[in-house]
Amino acid sequence: VTMKLWSGELWLSYELALRPLTLVFWGILGARALDNGLARTPTMGWLHWERFVCNLDCQEEPDSCISEQLFMQMAELMVSDGWKDAGYEYLCIDDCWMAPERDSQGRLQADPKRFPGGIRHLANYVHSKGLKLGIYADVGNKTCAGFPGSFGYYDIDAQTFADWGVDLLKFDGCYCDSVKSLVNGYKYMSLALNRTGRSIVYSCEWPLYLRPFHKPNYTDIQQYCNHWRNFDDVYDSWGSIKNILSWTTTNQKEIVDVAGPGGWNDPDMLVIGNFGLSWDQQVTQMALWAIMAAPLLMSNDLRQISPQAKALLQDKDVIAINQDPLGKQGYYLRTENSIEVWERPLSNLSWAVAVRNLKEIGGPCSYTIKVASLGLGVACNPGCFVTQLLPQKIKLGFHEWTSTLKTQINPSGTVLLRLEQA
Ligand SMILES: *[C@@H]1O[C@H](CO)[C@@H](O)[C@H](O)[C@H]1NC(C)=O
Ligand SMILES: *[C@@H]1O[C@H](CO)[C@@H](O)[C@H](O)[C@H]1NC(C)=O
Ligand SMILES: *[C@@H]1O[C@H](CO)[C@@H](O)[C@H](O)[C@H]1NC(C)=O
Ligand SMILES: *[C@@H]1O[C@H](CO)[C@@H](O)[C@H](O)[C@H]1NC(C)=O
Repeated sequence: VTMKLWSGELWLSYELALRPLTLVFWGILGARALDNGLARTPTMGWLHWERFVCNLDCQEEPDSCISEQLFMQMAELMVSDGWKDAGYEYLCIDDCWMAPERDSQGRLQADPKRFPGGIRHLANYVHSKGLKLGIYADVGNKTCAGFPGSFGYYDIDAQTFADWGVDLLKFDGCYCDSVKSLVNGYKYMSLALNRTGRSIVYSCEWPLYLRPFHKPNYTDIQQYCNHWRNFDDVYDSWGSIKNILSWTTTNQKEIVDVAGPGGWNDPDMLVIGNFGLSWDQQVTQMALWAIMAAPLLMSNDLRQISPQAKALLQDKDVIAINQDPLGKQGYYLRTENSIEVWERPLSNLSWAVAVRNLKEIGGPCSYTIKVASLGLGVACNPGCFVTQLLPQKIKLGFHEWTSTLKTQINPSGTVLLRLEQA
């Protein structure tokens, strides 16, 4: 293992030494993001963590333990209940899928009791449904839940995932003892995945784990990762959603401009359809994740989800904003009287605007916006058609540049609008 590790690091230093040349070349070509052709719009799919966490007890809880049965059931529902048609394509496994030890050849293996068919079998099944399979590993010595880490095995693990037919890797950052190992490990794995020749979306947590020690270099990160987590794990609570949004507004100067086709900021999973958010708070998560050009990875139980949550998650107009081909992330604009305004430039000179009521007391709040104050003053110049998309779709008609828009927003809710050039 030590030999392999050493030669691995030597390999990396060669590759990194050649990197500046490549970068100059990319600079000329104008490409900035990881060049694997993937995640040209934010990744959409389902990820088990927030809802199913690390449930290993298939004896007591056969329906919610981390097992091939869980993923097969979700795959079936993703197709039969319209999720795939709405764009949710990647069915992703998080931590706790592994057996506690590698096999005799040093390869990771799935827990044989919970995944009796193995990951290749599961990948075949998922592919037969027209979906893609995501998997999870860790840059350090162990995964966060204590399963085998990839440190010292990056090439073997990348090849194993490629051999199994995996389409996305979420690479966590637990049990990594130095900043240097963290950064080198994330870079090395990106190159190792590329060398397998298989197209694998690479989801990183590099800036999240780096931030306590160093300001992340996003120019660097976007050249290696398709999306990257910046902040804490999402929980099924309004407090958690508010913390993610407020972290994003505080740090937007650093992160918004880096996002684009091939590389996205990842504010973590959608928890819509679970237990912790009111209806208005679920609307807020959906609207703001669309504004932020966030990967839309649901973590919920597709076997038991309310029609209302399903309709929100499958809303075509909102998904179209999230997936807009211009690929520019939106940003926080201003707060007035406890009303927060966000906006996002879209293709065809359209804009999305989210108006969020920060109050958690009282009833619906009226807020009147001068149209000229939106979209750098040009969104509605000389005029535009406005459609409210959330909480319900309502055509608000033609607006002149000098006009105002009246909105009404429930406490902790959000109104999402689309403005189209007239
Ligand atoms: C993994 O553990 C070994 C042995 O304790 C240690 O030398 C190495 O630095 C660790 N690697 C990481 C990335 O923490
Ligand atoms: C590997 O990277 C090169 C450029 O760096 C790119 O052209 C190629 O498509 C990548 N291959 C895969 C499988 O990601
Ligand atoms: C960030 O990384 C890029 C690309 O590797 C490099 O050119 C740049 O100098 C780095 N910036 C800082 C502040 O280290
Ligand atoms: C932009 O406008 C063109 C022409 O009307 C249309 O075909 C295209 O679908 C529009 N793109 C988006 C993302 O709405």
